[in-house]
Amino acid sequence: MQNIFSLQQKVAVVTGGAGLLGRAIIKALVSLGADVIIADLDLAAAQIIADAMLREFDNDPKISALKLDIASEDSILASIDTLANTGHFPDIWVNNAYPRTDDWGLVFEKIPAASWRCNVDKHMNGYCLCCQKIAEVMKNEGHGSIINMGSIYGMVGPDFSIYEGTEMTMPAAYAAIKGGILSFTRYLAAYYGPYGVRVNAVSPGGVFNGQDVSFVTEYSKKPPMRRMGKPEDVAAAVAFLASDSAGYITGHNLVVDGGWTII
Ligand SMILES: NC(=O)c1ccc[n+]([C@@H]2O[C@H](COP(=O)([O-])OP(=O)(O)OC[C@H]3O[C@@H](n4cnc5c(N)ncnc54)[C@H](O)[C@@H]3O)[C@@H](O)[C@H]2O)c1
Repeated sequence: MQNIFSLQQKVAVVTGGAGLLGRAIIKALVSLGADVIIADLDLAAAQIIADAMLREFDNDPKISALKLDIASEDSILASIDTLANTGHFPDIWVNNAYPRTDDWGLVFEKIPAASWRCNVDKHMNGYCLCCQKIAEVMKNEGHGSIINMGSIYGMVGPDFSIYEGTEMTMPAAYAAIKGGILSFTRYLAAYYGPYGVRVNAVSPGGVFNGQDVSFVTEYSKKPPMRRMGKPEDVAAAVAFLASDSAGYITGHNLVVDGGWTII
């Protein structure tokens, strides 16, 4: 059983790898033996994470940083070329980036059309474009695992009461984007299943990141497990779907929400 959870001799790309969940995902994948490429729009931040992980894992040279803009087809193709030129054909691709405009978080009725379009384009279409390019590489290799980061808000509507008295809200475009990503994941799993390419999603609930105390308190009352998620909770689910232990699982949405969506 230990072997099928191992990621030895696998190459993994994590988009948005310099972010909150990305860092935990990278750590989990490296711990299980994968070579990991931190692919992020913010190359400097990705390099800092790579250097920190190299120190933590005793300078094991299997972690590197790569600049990638998931919203740009040219950038995706250039990244895949760079990986191919260094013999790094990805076995695992985690779509985890979180592009958003500066006005992200406006209430629904105040969102300018251009902002809505930009967020849907960068985030949802960015995930779809990455999938289109990498799935073909994996098809040619005869295997691969793509994991798309969804959200409980791609599955259920928000409980707005948890935001009362705070500056926070759940942006409307996020529901559209994540719902689209979850649906697209099922499409892609059906399309590439015959070629040995698995496509799954992970849908986290809210992850604790120093949010407003009243929000954390109100949020934690709802899920049966009575707490917000931790980045490590999400990373473990990604690592499982990436590994051969999930070898017959495709088109699945693995929900990591302490039970938020089951009640
Ligand atoms: N944090 C949560 O509570 C939570 C809950 C559910 C789902 N998610 C999802 O998990 C994923 C990661 O979220 P997070 O909280 O770690 O986000 P984050 O903001 O901490 O990190 C996002 C990363 O994406 C990078 N990025 C932004 N635009 C990019 C682009 N165009 N190309 C490449 N990289 C880009 C950023 O530089 C950053 O490093 C997202 O898909 C998010 O929707 C997060």
